[in-house]
Amino acid sequence: MSKLVSPSILSADFASLGREINMLDRSVADWIHLDIMDGVFVPNISFGLPVVRAVSKLTLKPLDVHLMIVNPEKYLGKFCSAGASILTVQYEACVHLHGIVQQIRSLGMKAGVALNPHTPVSSVENIIGDIDLLLIMSVNPGFGGQRFIPKSLDKVRQAKELIMRTDSSALIEVDGGISIENAEELYSAGADVLVAGNAVFSAESPADYIKELKVKS
Ligand code: DX5
Ligand code: ZN
Repeated sequence: MSKLVSPSILSADFASLGREINMLDRSVADWIHLDIMDGVFVPNISFGLPVVRAVSKLTLKPLDVHLMIVNPEKYLGKFCSAGASILTVQYEACVHLHGIVQQIRSLGMKAGVALNPHTPVSSVENIIGDIDLLLIMSVNPGFGGQRFIPKSLDKVRQAKELIMRTDSSALIEVDGGISIENAEELYSAGADVLVAGNAVFSAESPADYIKELKVKS
């Protein structure tokens, strides 16, 4: 299976969001990553449903929505109607994770689970067969433009091992501090999808940068 790139619009120019989405839509990006932050689960507030809805009207690329919010179970249907194709919840925010994953899938979306840097890969042993995506956070969630935490590379290898051992079909996504400098080693460690925000949007040509990330896969 070919490897994927999911640019995060957190670092996009929100005053020209339409233009930014058109650029991503024409690029070789596979998905578009949208970071939803509530100021409670993470110490930052980003954007919410109206932005997801607006983006979905401008592209047919799958919207990869990453919920960094408490009580995500309250909003699953709303994000589905807003256009999410892949909906990822944070492991640390879910008391009844299995039920939430089932609900996401029953709404017709792919279900993802994200692990904070301190959360071991073994935490998802009992659910790895029921999810479509395991997201390894390689920075502490909340802000774009942070430095990649090197230990995350080991976690990607552990995730790959778990997925092979359990015959799970979950994809491994890595999010935070990713650039062309570390893309290749992440893909070879087992990552299937790389999220990149700051590196893409601070590049002279974001569309060319996305192409370069794909080349590393
Ligand atoms: C961080 C978000 C990331 C972020 C990645 O909390 O989950 O998706 O946008 O941004 P960079 O690539 O700038 O680290
Ligand atoms: Zn994210």
